[in-house]
Amino acid sequence: MSDAATVLERCARLGEVSEEPGRLTRRFGTEAMRRANELVGGWMHEAGLAPREDAIGNLIGGRGRPPALALGSHLDSVRDAGRYDGPLGVLVALAVAERMPDAALEVIAFADEEGLRFGTTYLGSGAMAGRPTAVDARDADGVRLGDILPGDPATARRDPAELLGYCEVHIEQGPVLERRGVPVGVVTGITGQSHAELAFAGEAGHAGTVPMDARRDALVAAAEFVLAVEAAADGGLVATVGRLAVEPGARNVIPARATLSLDLRHADDAVRRAAAAALRERAGELAGARGVALDWRETGDSPAVPMDARLSDALAAAAGGDVLRLPSGAGHDAAMMASITPAAMLFVRCRGGISHNPAESVEAGDVAVAIDVLERFVRSR
Ligand code: GLV
Ligand code: MN
Ligand code: MN
Repeated sequence: MSDAATVLERCARLGEVSEEPGRLTRRFGTEAMRRANELVGGWMHEAGLAPREDAIGNLIGGRGRPPALALGSHLDSVRDAGRYDGPLGVLVALAVAERMPDAALEVIAFADEEGLRFGTTYLGSGAMAGRPTAVDARDADGVRLGDILPGDPATARRDPAELLGYCEVHIEQGPVLERRGVPVGVVTGITGQSHAELAFAGEAGHAGTVPMDARRDALVAAAEFVLAVEAAADGGLVATVGRLAVEPGARNVIPARATLSLDLRHADDAVRRAAAAALRERAGELAGARGVALDWRETGDSPAVPMDARLSDALAAAAGGDVLRLPSGAGHDAAMMASITPAAMLFVRCRGGISHNPAESVEAGDVAVAIDVLERFVRSR
């Protein structure tokens, strides 16, 4: 089997490792993540990379004397995910390690990039980069993050002296490479993100008896806010309400509470933060007009991160020199790793730019190109 076919077959096998029957959902700290780490740890072992798990659950397969170049991506997923967002980068890295059995390098499979369970993006790479871990965060079942960690997350921090750099291969998750008709591209930088959790709290009541002008309906306030979010997004700002929960959630009860998530991204941190502040103010106005209370919790602020110029040039040279350069609107572990070591990223074309969707798809030929480029890059270091 070709190396690319092996990578795709392993992505398919990992795609079966899920918390839910019939669809791929792999949240941080779950039995599914444990099984994913076990599977990938076995492949690392076969490749001569000694696998270990750090105190936050990142799987690290290392070989040779430090400092070493680190390659990798994440193994957690969004809900009802595709099989390539994250795993492709881990398995392309593993393919390169298998081609270079004597090279000193590390393959890292991060424990949480998506933040699905605790609402904390970059949990795995953040800990490795020395970012404090939000141990008091709770999941939807009230489980406290700090209570399920394998160790003290502060010890997951890496000494930059152990690393020569970090390179991550990832599906593009957008349409640019496909439109340009090229298999891979070199990432210039990773967009900044603002995250918030907000709740509108009104009053439950009988859907048949409470007059329309006497209601304090939390959902209609939330609905107006969702439209305000969409209206705020222009000039490079993308803004998404990805989750909306209504309580008590019954046909004949006026909604007492609506809880929403907010995700804002822009290449310019100042623009993004100003948009977040303006939306917060707007939410307050909408709540006031409807007599409902607003609770706004900021849950994340990740600045935009440029990739390392020297490492990116080396990656571009490995891709033949005349390679497309493009920014990333998606978040990646490379954004955290860049704070402790030079970081670079290679994007791989994906069909229709579709991602965060089970329809994610990549071509074996493009995966083969990515393996070759990453191998040439590692050999050039
Ligand atoms: C991760 O995929 C993100 O960009 O949210
Ligand atoms: Mn993702
Ligand atoms: Mn990803």
